[in-house]
Amino acid sequence: MVSTEREQTLVLIKPDALKNSLTGYVLSHLAEFHTGLRFAGTKIVHVSKMLADEHYAEHRGKVFFPSLIEYIRGGLHYPDEPWKHRVIAIVYQGPGAVQKIRDIAGPTNPHVAREQKPGCIRALGTVVPLKDAEGKVIGERMDNLIHASASVDEAEREIKLWFKPNDIPPHMQAYPTETCEDYYYIMGNKLSMQHEAGSICFLAPGNIAWKSDLDTLRLLSKGMAAPCSLESVVAKYLINEKEK
Ligand code: RTP
Ligand code: MG
Repeated sequence: MVSTEREQTLVLIKPDALKNSLTGYVLSHLAEFHTGLRFAGTKIVHVSKMLADEHYAEHRGKVFFPSLIEYIRGGLHYPDEPWKHRVIAIVYQGPGAVQKIRDIAGPTNPHVAREQKPGCIRALGTVVPLKDAEGKVIGERMDNLIHASASVDEAEREIKLWFKPNDIPPHMQAYPTETCEDYYYIMGNKLSMQHEAGSICFLAPGNIAWKSDLDTLRLLSKGMAAPCSLESVVAKYLINEKEK
Protein backbone atom coordinates (compact mmCIF):
# COMPACT_ATOMS: atom_id res chain seq x y z
CA MET A 1 0.00 0.00 0.00
CA VAL A 2 1.42 3.42 -0.94
CA SER A 3 0.66 6.87 0.44
CA THR A 4 -2.15 8.76 -1.26
CA GLU A 5 0.31 11.42 -2.45
CA ARG A 6 2.30 8.77 -4.34
CA GLU A 7 -0.74 6.75 -5.48
CA GLN A 8 -0.28 5.34 -8.96
CA THR A 9 -2.61 4.06 -11.66
CA LEU A 10 -2.17 2.39 -15.04
CA VAL A 11 -3.69 3.86 -18.19
CA LEU A 12 -3.62 2.10 -21.55
CA ILE A 13 -4.46 4.06 -24.67
CA LYS A 14 -6.07 1.24 -26.63
CA PRO A 15 -5.84 0.51 -30.38
CA ASP A 16 -9.21 2.14 -31.22
CA ALA A 17 -8.01 5.43 -29.68
CA LEU A 18 -4.75 5.21 -31.62
CA LYS A 19 -6.55 4.41 -34.87
CA ASN A 20 -8.88 7.39 -34.40
CA SER A 21 -6.03 9.78 -33.51
CA LEU A 22 -7.48 10.36 -30.04
CA THR A 23 -4.15 10.13 -28.17
CA GLY A 24 -3.83 13.89 -27.81
CA TYR A 25 -7.48 14.17 -26.75
CA VAL A 26 -7.00 11.55 -24.03
CA LEU A 27 -3.72 13.03 -22.79
CA SER A 28 -5.16 16.54 -22.57
CA HIS A 29 -8.11 15.28 -20.49
CA LEU A 30 -5.63 13.60 -18.13
CA ALA A 31 -3.17 16.54 -18.04
CA GLU A 32 -1.65 17.61 -14.73
CA PHE A 33 -3.42 20.98 -15.08
CA HIS A 34 -6.80 19.21 -14.80
CA THR A 35 -5.95 16.20 -12.62
CA GLY A 36 -2.91 17.17 -10.52
CA LEU A 37 -1.34 13.87 -11.67
CA ARG A 38 2.17 13.41 -13.05
CA PHE A 39 3.65 10.94 -15.55
CA ALA A 40 5.77 8.34 -13.73
CA GLY A 41 6.35 6.05 -16.71
CA THR A 42 5.29 5.59 -20.31
CA LYS A 43 6.03 3.14 -23.11
CA ILE A 44 4.78 1.96 -26.50
CA VAL A 45 3.97 -1.74 -26.19
CA HIS A 46 3.44 -4.40 -28.83
CA VAL A 47 1.10 -6.51 -26.69
CA SER A 48 2.00 -10.22 -26.58
CA LYS A 49 -0.64 -12.87 -26.02
CA MET A 50 0.98 -13.63 -22.66
CA LEU A 51 0.67 -10.00 -21.53
CA ALA A 52 -2.91 -9.62 -22.81
CA ASP A 53 -4.03 -12.88 -21.14
CA GLU A 54 -2.51 -11.83 -17.82
CA HIS A 55 -3.88 -8.29 -17.98
CA TYR A 56 -7.42 -9.55 -18.55
CA ALA A 57 -7.07 -12.75 -16.46
CA GLU A 58 -10.30 -11.98 -14.56
CA HIS A 59 -12.28 -12.29 -17.82
CA ARG A 60 -10.90 -15.72 -18.89
CA GLY A 61 -13.71 -18.02 -19.96
CA LYS A 62 -16.21 -15.25 -20.72
CA VAL A 63 -17.78 -15.14 -24.17
CA PHE A 64 -16.09 -11.85 -25.08
CA PHE A 65 -12.60 -12.90 -23.87
CA PRO A 66 -11.08 -13.99 -27.24
CA SER A 67 -12.33 -10.81 -28.91
CA LEU A 68 -11.07 -8.67 -26.00
CA ILE A 69 -7.59 -10.19 -26.37
CA GLU A 70 -7.58 -9.57 -30.12
CA TYR A 71 -8.79 -6.00 -29.52
CA ILE A 72 -6.06 -5.04 -27.01
CA ARG A 73 -3.44 -6.68 -29.26
CA GLY A 74 -4.46 -4.42 -32.16
CA GLY A 75 -5.54 -7.17 -34.56
CA LEU A 76 -9.11 -5.87 -34.89
CA HIS A 77 -8.25 -2.28 -35.73
CA TYR A 78 -5.19 -3.03 -37.86
CA PRO A 79 -5.95 -6.50 -39.35
CA ASP A 80 -3.48 -6.14 -42.23
CA GLU A 81 -0.88 -3.91 -40.58
CA PRO A 82 0.79 -5.86 -37.76
CA TRP A 83 3.49 -3.19 -37.45
CA LYS A 84 0.79 -0.89 -36.07
CA HIS A 85 -0.21 -3.30 -33.30
CA ARG A 86 0.58 -1.37 -30.13
CA VAL A 87 -0.86 0.44 -27.14
CA ILE A 88 0.52 3.34 -25.10
CA ALA A 89 0.99 2.35 -21.46
CA ILE A 90 1.22 5.16 -18.91
CA VAL A 91 1.71 5.26 -15.15
CA TYR A 92 0.17 8.36 -13.58
CA GLN A 93 1.04 9.37 -10.05
CA GLY A 94 -0.53 11.73 -7.56
CA PRO A 95 -3.29 12.17 -4.97
CA GLY A 96 -6.31 9.97 -5.67
CA ALA A 97 -4.87 8.90 -9.05
CA VAL A 98 -7.02 5.77 -9.43
CA GLN A 99 -10.42 7.35 -8.86
CA LYS A 100 -9.60 10.59 -10.67
CA ILE A 101 -8.79 8.75 -13.90
CA ARG A 102 -11.72 6.30 -13.56
CA ASP A 103 -14.03 9.32 -13.30
CA ILE A 104 -12.62 10.97 -16.43
CA ALA A 105 -12.67 7.63 -18.34
CA GLY A 106 -16.32 7.02 -17.46
CA PRO A 107 -18.47 3.85 -17.51
CA THR A 108 -17.11 0.71 -19.22
CA ASN A 109 -19.90 0.54 -21.81
CA PRO A 110 -19.69 3.48 -24.27
CA HIS A 111 -23.50 3.52 -24.69
CA VAL A 112 -23.91 3.92 -20.94
CA ALA A 113 -21.06 6.44 -20.90
CA ARG A 114 -22.83 8.65 -23.47
CA GLU A 115 -26.07 8.47 -21.52
CA GLN A 116 -24.79 8.84 -17.97
CA LYS A 117 -21.67 10.92 -18.40
CA PRO A 118 -21.57 12.89 -21.67
CA GLY A 119 -18.08 14.32 -22.17
CA CYS A 120 -16.21 11.45 -20.49
CA ILE A 121 -13.53 9.76 -22.63
CA ARG A 122 -15.44 6.49 -23.13
CA ALA A 123 -18.47 8.38 -24.47
CA LEU A 124 -16.51 8.39 -27.75
CA GLY A 125 -16.26 4.58 -27.86
CA THR A 126 -18.36 1.95 -29.61
CA VAL A 127 -20.07 -1.37 -28.78
CA VAL A 128 -19.56 -4.19 -31.27
CA PRO A 129 -21.89 -7.24 -31.42
CA LEU A 130 -20.17 -10.62 -31.25
CA LYS A 131 -21.62 -13.40 -33.39
CA ASP A 132 -21.17 -17.16 -33.50
CA ALA A 133 -20.44 -19.15 -36.67
CA GLU A 134 -24.18 -19.08 -37.59
CA GLY A 135 -24.34 -15.29 -37.23
CA LYS A 136 -26.30 -15.39 -33.96
CA VAL A 137 -25.42 -12.55 -31.57
CA ILE A 138 -23.77 -14.11 -28.49
CA GLY A 139 -22.44 -11.05 -26.72
CA GLU A 140 -20.74 -7.73 -27.24
CA ARG A 141 -17.32 -6.17 -27.17
CA MET A 142 -16.78 -2.70 -25.78
CA ASP A 143 -14.24 -0.63 -27.67
CA ASN A 144 -13.82 2.02 -25.03
CA LEU A 145 -10.55 3.77 -25.93
CA ILE A 146 -8.71 3.55 -22.62
CA HIS A 147 -8.03 1.22 -19.74
CA ALA A 148 -7.80 2.67 -16.24
CA SER A 149 -7.01 0.65 -13.09
CA ALA A 150 -10.13 0.01 -11.02
CA SER A 151 -8.58 0.10 -7.52
CA VAL A 152 -5.28 0.76 -5.77
CA ASP A 153 -4.61 -3.00 -5.52
CA GLU A 154 -5.42 -3.56 -9.21
CA ALA A 155 -3.13 -0.64 -10.08
CA GLU A 156 -0.25 -2.30 -8.24
CA ARG A 157 -0.86 -5.63 -10.01
CA GLU A 158 -1.15 -3.96 -13.42
CA ILE A 159 1.80 -1.56 -13.08
CA LYS A 160 4.02 -4.47 -12.01
CA LEU A 161 2.68 -6.45 -14.98
CA TRP A 162 3.49 -3.80 -17.62
CA PHE A 163 6.51 -2.01 -16.13
CA LYS A 164 9.91 -3.00 -14.77
CA PRO A 165 11.15 -0.87 -11.88
CA ASN A 166 13.69 0.95 -14.02
CA ASP A 167 11.01 1.98 -16.53
CA ILE A 168 10.05 4.41 -13.73
CA PRO A 169 12.43 7.00 -12.22
CA PRO A 170 13.72 5.67 -8.85
CA HIS A 171 12.19 8.48 -6.76
CA MET A 172 8.78 7.78 -8.35
CA GLN A 173 8.72 3.99 -7.80
CA ALA A 174 5.86 3.17 -5.44
CA TYR A 175 6.43 -0.54 -4.75
CA PRO A 176 9.34 -2.39 -3.07
CA THR A 177 12.20 -3.47 -5.31
CA GLU A 178 15.13 -5.83 -4.80
CA THR A 179 18.39 -6.58 -6.58
CA CYS A 180 18.29 -9.97 -8.26
CA GLU A 181 21.08 -12.37 -7.24
CA ASP A 182 20.32 -15.26 -9.59
CA TYR A 183 19.87 -16.05 -13.25
CA TYR A 184 16.32 -16.84 -14.39
CA TYR A 185 15.54 -18.30 -17.82
CA ILE A 186 12.31 -19.07 -19.63
CA MET A 187 11.71 -21.56 -22.43
CA GLY A 188 8.10 -21.81 -23.58
CA ASN A 189 6.36 -21.63 -20.21
CA LYS A 190 9.11 -23.43 -18.28
CA LEU A 191 11.20 -21.61 -15.67
CA SER A 192 14.84 -22.56 -15.21
CA MET A 193 17.86 -21.23 -13.34
CA GLN A 194 20.25 -22.92 -15.79
CA HIS A 195 20.79 -21.91 -19.38
CA GLU A 196 19.53 -24.38 -21.96
CA ALA A 197 19.73 -24.04 -25.74
CA GLY A 198 16.90 -21.72 -26.86
CA SER A 199 16.06 -20.40 -23.40
CA ILE A 200 15.82 -16.64 -22.76
CA CYS A 201 17.49 -15.04 -19.75
CA PHE A 202 14.96 -12.54 -18.38
CA LEU A 203 16.66 -11.68 -15.06
CA ALA A 204 20.32 -11.74 -14.08
CA PRO A 205 22.35 -10.84 -10.98
CA GLY A 206 22.40 -7.08 -10.48
CA ASN A 207 19.07 -6.43 -12.21
CA ILE A 208 16.55 -4.47 -10.16
CA ALA A 209 13.20 -6.29 -9.98
CA TRP A 210 9.93 -5.90 -8.13
CA LYS A 211 10.40 -7.66 -4.79
CA SER A 212 7.09 -9.50 -5.29
CA ASP A 213 8.40 -10.90 -8.61
CA LEU A 214 11.53 -12.27 -6.95
CA ASP A 215 9.44 -13.75 -4.13
CA THR A 216 7.32 -15.51 -6.78
CA LEU A 217 10.36 -16.78 -8.71
CA ARG A 218 12.02 -18.13 -5.56
CA LEU A 219 8.86 -20.15 -4.77
CA LEU A 220 8.29 -21.36 -8.34
CA SER A 221 11.93 -22.38 -8.80
CA LYS A 222 11.54 -24.67 -5.76
CA GLY A 223 8.36 -26.15 -7.25
CA MET A 224 6.19 -24.41 -4.63
CA ALA A 225 2.87 -22.62 -5.18
CA ALA A 226 3.16 -18.83 -5.60
CA PRO A 227 0.61 -16.01 -5.29
CA CYS A 228 1.26 -14.88 -8.90
CA SER A 229 1.66 -16.81 -12.13
CA LEU A 230 5.03 -17.24 -13.84
CA GLU A 231 3.57 -15.44 -16.88
CA SER A 232 2.68 -12.37 -14.80
CA VAL A 233 6.34 -12.09 -13.79
CA VAL A 234 7.92 -12.87 -17.16
CA ALA A 235 5.61 -10.93 -19.53
CA LYS A 236 7.11 -7.50 -18.75
CA TYR A 237 10.65 -8.69 -19.49
CA LEU A 238 9.60 -9.88 -22.95
CA ILE A 239 7.81 -6.61 -23.89
CA ASN A 240 8.96 -5.50 -27.34
CA GLU A 241 11.46 -8.39 -27.60
CA LYS A 242 11.53 -9.93 -31.05
CA GLU A 243 9.72 -13.26 -31.00
CA LYS A 244 12.19 -16.12 -31.54
P1 RTP B 1 -10.81 -1.48 -18.13
O1 RTP B 1 -10.31 -2.60 -17.27
O2 RTP B 1 -10.51 -1.67 -19.61
O3 RTP B 1 -10.38 -0.12 -17.64
O4 RTP B 1 -12.41 -1.48 -18.06
P2 RTP B 1 -13.35 -1.59 -16.79
O5 RTP B 1 -12.52 -1.73 -15.54
O6 RTP B 1 -14.30 -0.47 -16.85
O7 RTP B 1 -14.11 -2.94 -17.10
P3 RTP B 1 -13.64 -4.45 -16.82
O8 RTP B 1 -14.80 -5.14 -16.20
O9 RTP B 1 -12.32 -4.50 -16.15
O10 RTP B 1 -13.50 -5.01 -18.29
C1 RTP B 1 -12.30 -4.91 -19.03
C2 RTP B 1 -12.65 -4.68 -20.50
O11 RTP B 1 -13.34 -5.82 -20.98
C3 RTP B 1 -14.37 -5.42 -21.88
N1 RTP B 1 -15.65 -5.87 -21.35
N2 RTP B 1 -16.62 -6.31 -22.11
N3 RTP B 1 -19.04 -7.46 -23.03
C4 RTP B 1 -18.91 -7.24 -21.77
O12 RTP B 1 -19.78 -7.51 -20.97
C5 RTP B 1 -17.63 -6.66 -21.30
N4 RTP B 1 -17.30 -6.44 -20.04
C6 RTP B 1 -16.05 -5.94 -20.08
C7 RTP B 1 -14.29 -3.91 -21.99
O13 RTP B 1 -13.50 -3.57 -23.14
C8 RTP B 1 -13.58 -3.50 -20.73
O14 RTP B 1 -12.87 -2.28 -20.89
MG1 MG C 1 -10.93 -3.15 -15.33
